[in-house]
Amino acid sequence: MTLNNIDLFPHNTSINSSGNLTIDNLDINALADEFGTPLYVYDEATIRSIAKEYKNMFQNLYPDTKVAYASKAFMSLSMAKIAKEEKLSLDVVSGGEVSIAAKSGFPTSEMYFHGNNKTPQELSEAIDSGVGTIVVDGFHELRLLNQIAKDKNVVQEIMLRLSPSVDAHTHGHTTTGILDVKFGFSIETGESSQAIDESLNSSNLDLKGIHFHLGSPIFELEPYSTAIDTVLDYLKPFIEKGLNLREFSPGGGFAIGYVSHEPPPPISAYAETITSMLIKKCDDLNIPTPTLIIEPGRSIVGRAGVAIYTVGVIKDIPNVRTYVSVDGGMGDNIRPALYGSKYEAVVVNKMTNQSRETITLAGKYCESGDLLIKDISLPPVESGDRIAIPASGAYCLSMSSTYNMNPRPAVVMINQGTARLIRRRETYEDLMSLDLV
Ligand code: LLP
Repeated sequence: MTLNNIDLFPHNTSINSSGNLTIDNLDINALADEFGTPLYVYDEATIRSIAKEYKNMFQNLYPDTKVAYASKAFMSLSMAKIAKEEKLSLDVVSGGEVSIAAKSGFPTSEMYFHGNNKTPQELSEAIDSGVGTIVVDGFHELRLLNQIAKDKNVVQEIMLRLSPSVDAHTHGHTTTGILDVKFGFSIETGESSQAIDESLNSSNLDLKGIHFHLGSPIFELEPYSTAIDTVLDYLKPFIEKGLNLREFSPGGGFAIGYVSHEPPPPISAYAETITSMLIKKCDDLNIPTPTLIIEPGRSIVGRAGVAIYTVGVIKDIPNVRTYVSVDGGMGDNIRPALYGSKYEAVVVNKMTNQSRETITLAGKYCESGDLLIKDISLPPVESGDRIAIPASGAYCLSMSSTYNMNPRPAVVMINQGTARLIRRRETYEDLMSLDLV
């Protein structure tokens, strides 16, 4: 086994005697032949074992922890079923996410409905379908939700999302805990105090907890402890005045490895940091320990998913660059174009080839910026070769588009040595199915 970036791949990734990449002993080149490319391959054992690791690591240190999978990272009927079977809760951010999870049998009572601008329809549907917790993000929503709940004659459990002005040092597009963001009630401006008071006085809302989310991915531990420290200090007077803090959430944002030289902290380190600060603060402030809700999305599915492409055109510009184009790109993975995200890749059918050439991996979309990986060192690549990009399980398919009218990829789940299609490849008919003439 000479895979030096093995930590980026699903747990049981290896190389077989033909020199091909395997996951759970399945030859990925053969899977690409069978299902076509671009293909997203998920390993169920990896998803389940990481989900269990989150539960175990946190619950060993703080038994009253709930792990809510952030379904925006990757959602499908089968993923919701796995989340249900692993007894996770669910972070949802749209009526669509509520609907797909509910359809798969996921209990709505275990859903936390986030979002900075839920529509009246989404709020009404959420109450009707029994969504357990709505995480309120603004005054308009607070008043609207109270009114909708009153009209339906129910009391809805809510949390408030606060913005603690803590910088988690991640990409500007995905940082959410600082003052200048659209999310949450700011502590710094005093908005959050008004929101807590107003919630406590809302006849049809039951304020059961406080939430914040600092951004994603967060490679540092210290922003979590700083924010927990700040937010609990801030909440103490409200708790004395009658806020019953039954639940507390520092959100998600836990990092994964995308490239070998930037390893994420282990789950145990996040667990240690978050739970020790929470325990210490509750002790110092003499307040009861709340249920802790953590919301990992990327870190549950990211490593489990691998994107598989076939190489087509190769354009060599002498002394400048060699562009190797694959049959996917920004339509199935917008992250490099949107955030400048870095990835590594391997040639699926040349895993034991030790020669190296530097190339740039391009997508097939009509944009010069549609580059998946700039300047990567790979074995000499030829048309027809298969490329695998690891760490593709989160925020690739969920942010995919049909730009240029390219159908979206098929998705395969590997489990116990077999691969099953969990999402068929989009067809031209699918692309037209919503159009009316
Ligand atoms: N909780 C809340 C309230 C969130 O907004 C998010 C992510 C999470 C939990 C889960 O974060 P995770 O554990 O997955 O990092 N499209 C971006 C990421 C956007 C994250 C949005 N919110 C990307 O591709 O990096």
